[in-house]
Amino acid sequence: MESFDIAVIGAGAAGMMCAAVAGQRGRRVVLIDHAPRLAEKIRISGGGRCNFTNLHAGPANYLSANPHFCRSALARYTPRDFLALLKSHRVTWHEKHRGQLFCDHSSESVIEVLKAECDAGAITWRRPVSVAEIRHGDADSFALDTSAGQINARALIVATGGLSIPKIGATDFAYRVAKQFGHKLIDMRPALVPLTFSSEQWEPFSALSGISLEVEVEAGSKAGGGKKHGNGAFLEDLLFTHRGLSGPGILQISSYWQPGEPIHVNLLPERDAVADLLQAKATQKRQIGNLLAEWMPARLADAWLEAHGVSAEARAADLPDKALRRIGESFARWSLVPSGTEGYRKAEVTRGGVDTRELSSSTMMSERVPGLYFIGEAVDVTGWLGGYNFQWAWASGVAAGQAA
Ligand code: FDA
Repeated sequence: MESFDIAVIGAGAAGMMCAAVAGQRGRRVVLIDHAPRLAEKIRISGGGRCNFTNLHAGPANYLSANPHFCRSALARYTPRDFLALLKSHRVTWHEKHRGQLFCDHSSESVIEVLKAECDAGAITWRRPVSVAEIRHGDADSFALDTSAGQINARALIVATGGLSIPKIGATDFAYRVAKQFGHKLIDMRPALVPLTFSSEQWEPFSALSGISLEVEVEAGSKAGGGKKHGNGAFLEDLLFTHRGLSGPGILQISSYWQPGEPIHVNLLPERDAVADLLQAKATQKRQIGNLLAEWMPARLADAWLEAHGVSAEARAADLPDKALRRIGESFARWSLVPSGTEGYRKAEVTRGGVDTRELSSSTMMSERVPGLYFIGEAVDVTGWLGGYNFQWAWASGVAAGQAA
């Protein structure tokens, strides 16, 4: 039997950060993970370059049943703090798009930084090691039955993440531990995930697979313009796939989408499509297909016209106003009801998780069981696409690492 001050289960983004901070404070920390490869999700993130934070990360970029919960931890460990850490290890980065920061070389460098920080905290590694049972017994300590023998610890930090990508080691471990200790869960579902449609519904669009364009997208039956971007409405790229819709705009909206509800897409967000078509009718002699091909991918324009019974070769000047209005309106508000999502196999994150209303927002400790902490994606704090989820992992990891 081995004894530690702190056992951290899950050596991913949040767990490694937390263990490093606690170890460097002089705590004796054991870090346990069942996966054969370390921090696989960091490795595959951001297309292998890890979008490790977002310069604009703030509470408004997260979904939660308890929206203010993330405020304290995010304010105490900011994107600038993580940049300072990377700089101290000579890791270089670049901004790609809207505050999204990526490694110049490889996501491996983020893993190396966290590993070095853990080593600086003299962390004891136990991996690949699985935990079969947790008992909360005498003297308020936790006894873990693991594949490497019994481990005792005064504090237990659960950092096993969400359910997405089970093939690289995601499990429901955190949710089971939460339930064991009487914590409530907020319903979990795949988020930042492509949306799918029935084959019948998608048949007219499947030939458009591969087309990408910037759109404005909203979710919900009450959606209807006027929403501020981000508040359930995003201006980002959409990608047609064989089974449905993907691309950053769709991944963002998938976190807000509720099964059975429609999504609304404006395929020409930068223009008033009806007014511009009517103006073109009055001033130009061109074929409508050629005209639209300047506004959007030609393949999409042609398919759209065909679906609306209009020949791409017809001249705008010869089409009735009513037809132009109908086409323009259909671009501005394409409403469709997804049949589902690509599920945890493709989701970047899990929405929902351990209910934060029973956790301390400054330390992540359970208000039910002193010494028990939940951090990272396991808790009901879900970031937008763009580096926000890692920033939550770092910030919640630091909060618990400083407290335990
Ligand atoms: P994380 O999943 O990182 O770590 C959990 C650890 O717990 C794993 O090491 C796992 O093996 C271990 N574990 C699980 N069950 C266990 C058990 N029963 N026993 C022991 N160990 C167990 N975010 C972002 O901000 N920018 C990005 O670029 C991307 N890109 C991205 C791409 C892809 C393909 C995915 C799937 C996800 C992203 N994300 C992302 C999301 C990001 O990866 C995610 O939010 C964080 O890794 C969450 O950090 P955690 O430490 O909470 O969990």
